Amino acid sequence: QTGMTTLDYGFVNTAATKSNITYIDGDQGILRYRGYPIEQVAKGLSFLEVAWLLIYGEIPTESELEDFDRRIRRHTLLHEDLKRFFDGLPHQAHPMSVLSSGVSALSTYYQDSLDPTNPEHVEISTLRLLAKMPVMAAYAHKKSVGQAFLYPDNTLSFVDNFLRLNFGTMAEPYEVNPVVSSALERLLILHADHEQNASTSTVRLVGSTQANMFASISAGINALFGPLHGGANEAVLSMLGDIQASGEGVAKYVERVKNKEAGVKLMGFGHRVYKNYDPRAKLVKESADEVLEALGVHDDLLEIAKELEQIALADDYFKERRLYPNVDFYTGVIYKAMGFPTRMFTVLFAIGRLPGWIAHWREMTSDPQTKIGRPQQLYLGHAARDLPTGR
Ligand code: SDX
Repeated sequence: QTGMTTLDYGFVNTAATKSNITYIDGDQGILRYRGYPIEQVAKGLSFLEVAWLLIYGEIPTESELEDFDRRIRRHTLLHEDLKRFFDGLPHQAHPMSVLSSGVSALSTYYQDSLDPTNPEHVEISTLRLLAKMPVMAAYAHKKSVGQAFLYPDNTLSFVDNFLRLNFGTMAEPYEVNPVVSSALERLLILHADHEQNASTSTVRLVGSTQANMFASISAGINALFGPLHGGANEAVLSMLGDIQASGEGVAKYVERVKNKEAGVKLMGFGHRVYKNYDPRAKLVKESADEVLEALGVHDDLLEIAKELEQIALADDYFKERRLYPNVDFYTGVIYKAMGFPTRMFTVLFAIGRLPGWIAHWREMTSDPQTKIGRPQQLYLGHAARDLPTGR
C-alpha cells in the first residue's frame, strides 16, 4: 500500500480476510482504528469523527465534519409508514429484534438506494443508516416501556438527539445531562469497530452476495444479539444480579464457573482474539467510576464486578486460559446508571458498531482484495457410500 506503513506479519494467511480499517494485536492488547490507538481516539475524537475515520479512512476536516453532521441530521426522520411499522410489534419484543426488523424494513421504503454498485446509493444508504438507526433504537426502547415515540430534534448533536429520543417524553422538556452525553459518546466510540468479529463478518458475508446495505446491517444486528457476542453486556448484568440475589458471594460463583456447572461462564470475560486485557475494558472501567460518581449513583453491582475481576485475575484457572475482562464486562453498569433498561444494552452496542459495519461493507464491496471469500470447509463426514440395494 503506497504511503502507508504496512505491518509485516512475516507470513501470509491466505484464508484470512484482508482489511485496511482496524488492527488488533490480541497478545499485546492493542486496538487501532485506521492506525490510531483506541486510547487516543476514545478521548480525542467525537463519535461522528470516528465514523468518518472508519468509513472514509482519514480524520475529517472541519468542513467535512460539519457537512457530514448536517447531512445526517437531515435524514433522521422516518417515513410515517415506517414509524407505524413499529406499532405492529408487541411491546414485550426484545429491542434487538425490533431494531433488526426496523433496519431490514428500510429496504422496503428506500428503493432508490439499494444498488451496492452505485456510489450514490451507497452514500445515501450510509447517511440513512447513521441517521435513522439511532431513532429506531430509541423507538425500540419506547416500545418496551409503553411510551410515545418522540420526533428527532435536529438542533441537537448526534448523541444528545439519541438521549432525548430515549429519555424525553411528550409531557415535559428534556435536559441533556453532559456527564451522560460525554460518557455515551466515549462508549459508542469504543464499540465502533473490531475487525472481523462475528457480526462484522456477517455483514461482509451478506454484502458479498450484493445484498443491499440495509439487509446486510440487519443481519449483523442479529449476529450481535447472541449472548456470546454483543448480548454479553446484557448477560453480565444478569450474572451480577444473580450473584447479588444468591447471597452466596463472589468467590462461590467463581468456583461454580471453574467447575463448569451447567455451562456457567464468567460473562464479560474471555475473547477470541484478546489473550490479554481488552484495551477497551480498561477505558470502560475508568468511565464507570467517573460516571457513577458524577451521577451520584452507587451500584453494588459495580463493586461485585470489581471483586469478580480481582478474584479471577489472581486465579490460575483464568490465567491459564488467558481470560480477561472484555469490552462487555463493565459497560452494563454504566448503561444502567444512565437509565437504560438491561435489554437495551446490546442495542447500544449496535449503535456504536454501526460505523464499523458500514465501513467494512463499503470496503468489501469496493476493494477486490478485501472481498470475503466463501468460508472454507474441512470435510469430516462419511466417505462415498451407496444406498442399500433396492432403494
Ligand atoms: C464480544 O470478536 C470480537 O471482537 C467480539 C467483540 C467485538 O467487539 O465485536 O469483542 C465483542 O463479543 C466480546 C465477547 C463477549 N462474550 C462474552 O463475554 C461471553 C463469555 N465469553 C466466552 O463465551 C468466550 O470467552 C468467548 C466466546 C468470548 C471466547 O471464547 P474462546 O476464546 O474461543 O475460548 P473457548 O470458548 O475456546 O474456551 C477456552 C477455555 C474453555 O475451557 P476448557 O474447555 O479449555 O477447560 O476457556 C473457557 C472455556 O470453557 N472459557 C471460559 C470463558 N470463556 C472461555 N470459562 C469461563 N468463563 C468464560 N467467559
